Amino acid sequence: MLLRDVRLPEGTGPVDLRMVDGVFAEIGPGLAPAGSEKVVQGHGRLVLPPFVESHIHLDSVLTAGQPEPNHSGTLFEGIERWAQRKTTLTREDVKERVNRVVRQQAGFGVQFVRTHVDVTDPQLTALHALLELREELAEWVTIQIVAFPQEGICSFPDGRALMTRAADLGVDVLGAIPHFEFTREYAVESLNFVCELAAERGLLVDVHCDEIDDEASRGLETLATRAYELGLGDRVTASHTTAMHSYNNAYFTRLLRLLSLSGINFVSNPVVNTHLQGRIDSYPKRRGVTRVKELTEAGLNVSFGQDDICDPWNPLGTGNLRDVVFTGLYVTQMMGHDQIVDSYRFVTTNAARTLHLGDGYGIEVGRPAHLVVLDAQSWYDALNWNAPVLASYRAGRVIARTEPVRREVLF
Ligand code: FE2
Repeated sequence: MLLRDVRLPEGTGPVDLRMVDGVFAEIGPGLAPAGSEKVVQGHGRLVLPPFVESHIHLDSVLTAGQPEPNHSGTLFEGIERWAQRKTTLTREDVKERVNRVVRQQAGFGVQFVRTHVDVTDPQLTALHALLELREELAEWVTIQIVAFPQEGICSFPDGRALMTRAADLGVDVLGAIPHFEFTREYAVESLNFVCELAAERGLLVDVHCDEIDDEASRGLETLATRAYELGLGDRVTASHTTAMHSYNNAYFTRLLRLLSLSGINFVSNPVVNTHLQGRIDSYPKRRGVTRVKELTEAGLNVSFGQDDICDPWNPLGTGNLRDVVFTGLYVTQMMGHDQIVDSYRFVTTNAARTLHLGDGYGIEVGRPAHLVVLDAQSWYDALNWNAPVLASYRAGRVIARTEPVRREVLF
C-alpha cells in the first residue's frame, strides 16, 4: 500500500511511504501508485515510528487502592501496599489487567513495551503470566520483560535464586534495586550479581537505581563501573536515578566522566517521580527527577517512561506517552524550541536504543512497516494540542484507530 503526503519529524517536505509485505519498500516524494495498489491519503500529517514505552510495571497496573491506597504517596509505602496485593495475585488476574492496559497503550500508538515484573514472589505468578502474554500479544506489541526484584536481591529470602530462575524461564532483562537493599554492601553485591549473570547469559540489564532523595545513594557509580569493566556498555540501563537530582555538582561532574565512558542508557519517569519524590522534604521540596538535560547534553541516551498506571505508586496514568513528554519537559526545564521539537525522541528512537530494537524499528527502507499517524503536521503541534494517534500501523496493517473529537464552540 501507499501512504501518501505525510511528514516525517526531521523532513523538510511531504513524502510518500510504500509498504509491501509488512516492510517499508520505498520512501520519497511523489511516489506513483503501482497498478491496483491501495492508496491512503495522509493530508500532510506527521508520521513517527511507534511509541516505545521504555519503563512500566505491567504486573501492578489497575491495582490502586487494593487492598488500600498509598496514603503517604511515598515509594516505600507503595512497596508495602504492593506486597499486600501480591499475596492475592493469580495468573488470570494479571493477564486480565495487562490485556486491558496493552490495548489502551495500543490506542496511543505504543507498540514496544519494556515491563518490569516483580520476581520477589516464590511462585513467580506475575512472571509466568507476562511470559505467556509476551507470546500471545506478539503480533500487536513487542513486550520485553525485566526480572525486577522489588524487595531486593540480597535482602530478600532466596533473592539470588529467584533471579536465576527468572533468567532460566526466559526474561529479556535483569533488574536490581540497590537503594532498597539493607546495606550499602548488599547494594554493591546485588549489582555485581546481576551484571555478572547478565554477562554470562547474554541478557540486558535495567536497574531501578537510586530511586530515593538520598544524596548518598550511589548505586549508579557501581552499575556504570560494572558496565564499563564487563564490556556491557549500552546493554545496561539505569532507571529513575532520582538521587542524582540531589548530588552535589562536584560529585556529579566527576560521575559524568564515568557515565560517558560506560555508555549506559538512562530512563527517567518524570510523572511518577515528581509525585513520589520530595515527600519527606518540608519546603523547599525537591522535584526528584534525574538530570535529563545534563545527561542529554553530555551525549548520553535518555528516554522517558510512564512507570505506573493506577497502581500503588501512581493512582492516575493512562499510558499516553505524550503526557509523559509534556510533563517531562516542564519538570526538567527543557522548554527551549529545539528541545521541544526534539522531544519525541524520548519516547521513540532513544527508547528504541535502550530496548536494543536495532533494525526492527525505524522508518527506513527494508525495516518492518511500523508507524503512527498523528493528527498534526508537526511534533510541536502534536505535543501542545494533544493530537491523537489517528492510526497505528504494525507490519503495514492498521492495529488501532482513533476518530478525532469534534468540538463546537457556540459563540
Ligand atoms: Fe519503576
